Amino acid sequence: MEIKVVPGDIAQTPVPAVIVNLFEGVKQPEGATGAVDRALGGAISQLISEREIKGKLNEVALVHTLGRIPAARVAVVGLGKQPEFNLDRVRQVSATAARYLKGKGVTRAATIVHGAGIGGLDPSEAARAVAEGTLLGLYSFRKHKTPEEEQEFQELLLVERDVGRIPSLEKGVELGRVMSQATNRARDWANEPANAMTPTDLAEVARQVAQDNGLEIEVLEREQMVALGMGGLLGVAQGSHQPPRFIVLRYRSDVTQPHLGLLGKGITFDSGGISLKPSEGMETMKTDKSGAAAVIAAMGAIGQLKPRLSVTGLVPATENLPGGSAMKPGDVIRILGQKTVEVISTDAEGRLILADALSYARKLGLTHLVDTATLTGACHVALGDLYSGAFTNNQAFLDQVLRASQDTGDRLWALPMPDEYREQYKSEVADIKNVGSRWGGAITAALFLKEFAQDTPWVHLDIAGPSRSSKESGYLVKGATGVPTRTLVQLALNMAGS
Ligand code: BES
Ligand code: ZN
Ligand code: ZN
Repeated sequence: MEIKVVPGDIAQTPVPAVIVNLFEGVKQPEGATGAVDRALGGAISQLISEREIKGKLNEVALVHTLGRIPAARVAVVGLGKQPEFNLDRVRQVSATAARYLKGKGVTRAATIVHGAGIGGLDPSEAARAVAEGTLLGLYSFRKHKTPEEEQEFQELLLVERDVGRIPSLEKGVELGRVMSQATNRARDWANEPANAMTPTDLAEVARQVAQDNGLEIEVLEREQMVALGMGGLLGVAQGSHQPPRFIVLRYRSDVTQPHLGLLGKGITFDSGGISLKPSEGMETMKTDKSGAAAVIAAMGAIGQLKPRLSVTGLVPATENLPGGSAMKPGDVIRILGQKTVEVISTDAEGRLILADALSYARKLGLTHLVDTATLTGACHVALGDLYSGAFTNNQAFLDQVLRASQDTGDRLWALPMPDEYREQYKSEVADIKNVGSRWGGAITAALFLKEFAQDTPWVHLDIAGPSRSSKESGYLVKGATGVPTRTLVQLALNMAGS
């Protein structure tokens, strides 16, 4: 789908539908909405006075123009209350309006840049948000469905009166396009069923991303993992016939310090292993590779945007299955160059493969690490569907990650890591065990990872809740959400000062 910035007047743009907006409580629309209203002889303000259009957030009303303007329909999308308005709402309403029109069979439309007028937002950022929201909201995963006669949305025109603003709007749209395309790719890979996205397939995907975006790639196979001593990844992979992969993607800039490391949990299917999960809902465990998908996609976008900062992406990838040679509860393994771990639950596998990845990242000398993982059901219980848990050993670095998430609208919430809970994973036979008590499971999982991040500034994002959405809402669609792809890219941009 194309998004083009064009000079002109939205009321005079010849497209099947135009999108304008309205703040809640406004009786007499101004700006572009006002211009369209006047051209329609007051049709919009009449619907407002009849309380059919209220301007509530994400409300869409369709007005037929009966030849009064070149466009056959006007969609009026509600922006909600003006004091609560922000860029994330621009993303949301853009997604909602585009999906609404697509549902009506509209494939070309024109819109104004929501928020750039009386909304008071920076025009370039608002244009980016319109592009991001539209492209994210129109996403659907139909690869394995027999194609239907459905028409794809083809073109959105961003109509701007002020010609001087066009270059900055175009820049914003381009950044939004890169960000949302990366996120949609992450969604695709996370949504793929496990039989279509094995660890080997994931490595192939990463290879393609590297080739398309000028990144270096290295894929470690089992022999290299054995030589290095990646006991966590090898241990989890034991129960599966699919060989594990450890993917290393490198974006090198002339600036070598700081060197950001992005780590993603790549469990292509989590059955729990010998600590088998209940079968109900187990199919959703194909998205246990969401962290990996976000990292690979973010690396691709970073390759396109070329920030002045070196970034390395690390993805340990394996299935977690209960095959005949599977790891058993009570087994002891050794994480790369570090501690021994008594495996109490083979279902707490994410922390084992990430521990190897964190150790590897330290060996590479990466200076700042962010890992993202569908790590614990406990985090989903604690924070619900919308918030990812954020943990750190370095408050200043967490603040940078939180700032990046505020720029993108991905929602993160910092959770504590009290030292007192460390005693929960004391083991009688090994240095530590891989599970704590039932309470605070997201925290003990983070504390486990912290043992392997050691003193390298590190942020852990537990995306167990937000990695999937059970419904369409704003720019989120059903299934994989691609969280936190955009935040990882934004962090790299912000750290590079670009
Ligand atoms: N992949 C799961 C966590 C998960 C659960 C993600 C639900 C998304 C939705 C992880 O590997 C896991 O099974 N964690 C266990 C840890 C426990 C055994 C300490 C959990 O959360 O139950
Ligand atoms: Zn898992
Ligand atoms: Zn598990």
